Amino acid sequence: MDKKQLKMSTFNDALDQIKDGMIVGIGSGTTIELLVPKIAEKLEQEQIHIIGVCTSNKTALIAKEFGIQVIEVNDVDHIDIAIDGADEIDHDLNLIKGGGGALFREKVIDAMADRFVVLADDSKCVDYLGQTFRLPVEVDKFNWLLVEKCIKAYNDLKVTRRMVDDVPFITDNGNYILDVELNEGIQPFDMHEFLIHLIGVLETGYFLNVTDQAIIGTPTGVKIKNKYSK
Ligand code: 5RP
Repeated sequence: MDKKQLKMSTFNDALDQIKDGMIVGIGSGTTIELLVPKIAEKLEQEQIHIIGVCTSNKTALIAKEFGIQVIEVNDVDHIDIAIDGADEIDHDLNLIKGGGGALFREKVIDAMADRFVVLADDSKCVDYLGQTFRLPVEVDKFNWLLVEKCIKAYNDLKVTRRMVDDVPFITDNGNYILDVELNEGIQPFDMHEFLIHLIGVLETGYFLNVTDQAIIGTPTGVKIKNKYSK
């Protein structure tokens, strides 16, 4: 099975958790873009209705195209379930997210949800955060270079501003992304605390203690990991 098939093998377990009348946080990335049509199919088949709150402009556009009602996060006071992808998942279900640059809105919506479910193929499972993926940090354009210098000075880390086709990547919030190369010695909670207090940092791609369930597609079947069971 290729990665796409592994990602899609997680969908049934996620879709089963979507019920009539729910407000559903809809994440970002290729996994979720494949999931959205399946959500629409379920709504049609079961004649049920949900309201979507999306973590990126792109997902909102796709969800609307598939006939899912989408509203703004400021118009809800709770979210029943959020379903999203991840770039890395450690043994405690802590994550790195933000490969698509949507980490701020993802954090708002995923953390706000009563239940947060992550879908991924097994290549995303790691022993420590930063093992395979750099940590995205969203920073204001005004002083981004000063922030980059501060992060570089912390344990001599490598930091690069994210570029796409030779131009800086701009988030839905109009900011830059700095990608920070981590190492095994970096403690996620300490690193997040350091970063989040730098003036100019909007959010980090660490999603710590927020995941309720990870549904992982593996070549030998789907593995479900819940928050308190290992
Ligand atoms: C976007 C994200 C995505 O959830 C993450 O990058 C995983 O993406 P994909 O589903 O394409 O593997 O955090 O900001």
